[in-house]
Amino acid sequence: MTTVEQVLGASSVMPVLAFKGVDEALEISRLLYDCGVRVFEITLRHETALDSIRQVKAALPDDAIVGAGTILSPDLAKSARNAGAAFGVSPGLTKELGSAVRAMGWAFLPGVSTISEAMAAADMGFEALKFFPASVSGGPGFLKAAGSVLPGIQFCPTGGITAETAQDYLKLGNVPTVGGSWITPRKADGLIDLGATRERARAIKSL
Ligand code: 3PG
Repeated sequence: MTTVEQVLGASSVMPVLAFKGVDEALEISRLLYDCGVRVFEITLRHETALDSIRQVKAALPDDAIVGAGTILSPDLAKSARNAGAAFGVSPGLTKELGSAVRAMGWAFLPGVSTISEAMAAADMGFEALKFFPASVSGGPGFLKAAGSVLPGIQFCPTGGITAETAQDYLKLGNVPTVGGSWITPRKADGLIDLGATRERARAIKSL
């Protein structure tokens, strides 16, 4: 079973992937894997997302950790896990969602954007949290302050992070990884830019 530590420790960047279909999911996930990516957050923002998780997991080698993002409810958590997602990520946290994922024993990163929310999440047993939306919720300055008062909590900031700002977060002791969609930019025609994706994915290892 995948642990939160494995998810956070897999890479300095977790690509946040909003695929528009299964074919795109397979093509881009293979490309990312070939560029060294080993952790994938496939968001549940398209009707094909669960199918994408299922097929990407089957297509990639076993060392790929394929998870699900935008888990907004217990039902979505169960569906994502049943589709094979090794972990889940949510932009927020409700009592119902927290209780459900704890009962499932699933690696899960709930989202918070304030100290009180982080304290509430820690009370529910979550010690690794998504900080979202990071860039407009205080950015690295917030996380530095959070580290002083909540030293036991690790954060994965996402939302508005770019290749240029990632390092500002990664240099903090409580940020093992950052998430973001900048790895897979789309062109004007709506398709994911393969050349830019390759370049950005390869650049992860130098962050
Ligand atoms: C998320 O779900 O974490 C965010 O949508 C990613 O934010 P970004 O698109 O600004 O990277």
